[in-house]
Amino acid sequence: MKKIKIGIAGSRGLSTVMGLRALPDVEITALCNLDEATLDAQAKELGVAHKYRVFEDMLASDIDAVVIATPMQCHVPQAIAALEAGKHVMSEVTAGVTMDELWWLIETVEKSGCIYMMAENYIYTPQVQMVKEMVKAGLFGDTYYAEGMYLHNIDGLFKYPDGRSTWRSFWQCGKRGNFYPTHSVGPVMNWFPGDRITEITTYSPGVYNELGLRQDSGTTTMCRTEGGKLLNIRVDCTSPRPHNMTYYQLQGTKGIFQAASMGFGDRDKVSFLGADNPLGNMHWEALDNYRDYLPERYKAATAEQNAAGHGGGDFFIVEDFINAIRTNTQPEIDVYKACEWTAVGLLSELSVTNGSRTMQMPHFRKNMPLEEKKITL
Ligand SMILES: NC(=O)c1ccc[n+]([C@@H]2O[C@H](COP(=O)([O-])OP(=O)(O)OC[C@H]3O[C@@H](n4cnc5c(N)ncnc54)[C@H](O)[C@@H]3O)[C@@H](O)[C@H]2O)c1
Repeated sequence: MKKIKIGIAGSRGLSTVMGLRALPDVEITALCNLDEATLDAQAKELGVAHKYRVFEDMLASDIDAVVIATPMQCHVPQAIAALEAGKHVMSEVTAGVTMDELWWLIETVEKSGCIYMMAENYIYTPQVQMVKEMVKAGLFGDTYYAEGMYLHNIDGLFKYPDGRSTWRSFWQCGKRGNFYPTHSVGPVMNWFPGDRITEITTYSPGVYNELGLRQDSGTTTMCRTEGGKLLNIRVDCTSPRPHNMTYYQLQGTKGIFQAASMGFGDRDKVSFLGADNPLGNMHWEALDNYRDYLPERYKAATAEQNAAGHGGGDFFIVEDFINAIRTNTQPEIDVYKACEWTAVGLLSELSVTNGSRTMQMPHFRKNMPLEEKKITL
């Protein structure tokens, strides 16, 4: 098998190292980081020979693919440069920071013929995967409502130690609306296979933080899907509260899944209608009772795959990227899904700054006509 050579840009990209190293005929040959001291330390620790401060210089090397894990506003410019250089791309979330960037990304992926995958890792957690299989098996009946919430106070991430502002002060909390939707939308849409979001409306209580940031004190975005389902997507990164980044709910005609609140002894739980669990008097049981529904590859994960992190999820995400390259088939989280889930956030900014107007979601798909590449109320 031909060896696939990978270059990784940005420190967060190192979360793929153990997964990539657990795969046969994959080699991490290059690292890129603007910060020289960080770059030197990481290359030494990982034993990677080639180091680049400039992303374009790394593209000129003989790598086949890049992991882009630089700040959000770098993702599309770097993905386009990589695709035009004939390199496959796995990009951190979110896919891009403007709607225009999303059209440019799609057009470049289509022209390049290279693989593009968004690294939406929350989909790969064992819980989210189990619920997907339980949906497929019909345990929830007809599913019609879901919630995804990312509640993560990031107060410490707005300033460098020397007092300069970080990119998060601008491209995340310097913006209105939901700036970080994919960890919530991705897992939830994964439970409605074949469906797509058609419109979104965002509500906010306004700005209550005292940091001088424009970001709302939490936003709630209601999404409608083509199949008539309703999604409630929430982000709050400035309010004083404990973290809860993986809160989900899925309601169907026969039962419900509700994720644990992080901490405080809560657990992922389900409840299904039955003779001993009647309407009006239903009780919870642990999601863990349904571990038989865990996909086979998770059940069979080796110690090395599990060690990559998140119950094997951090291995399977890179396995899917490498398989996509080897089979020359776009992965499940392709550029169209990446753009739709990212656009929930970009359109939410317009909705919330225009009296919670409903925004239409473009139908992101292959060979999308030029006249559809626009923003409509
Ligand atoms: N999927 C997840 O769970 C998850 C978690 C954290 C961060 N992220 C994403 O990862 C990305 C990075 O976030 P972070 O928390 O690591 O940010 P960070 O600011 O802590 O680190 C960014 C790193 O990229 C380097 N860098 C900046 N510009 C660069 C450039 N042009 N070329 C090369 N290197 C550059 C910096 O030196 C730094 O090491 C963001 O897009 C964020 O949304 C995802």
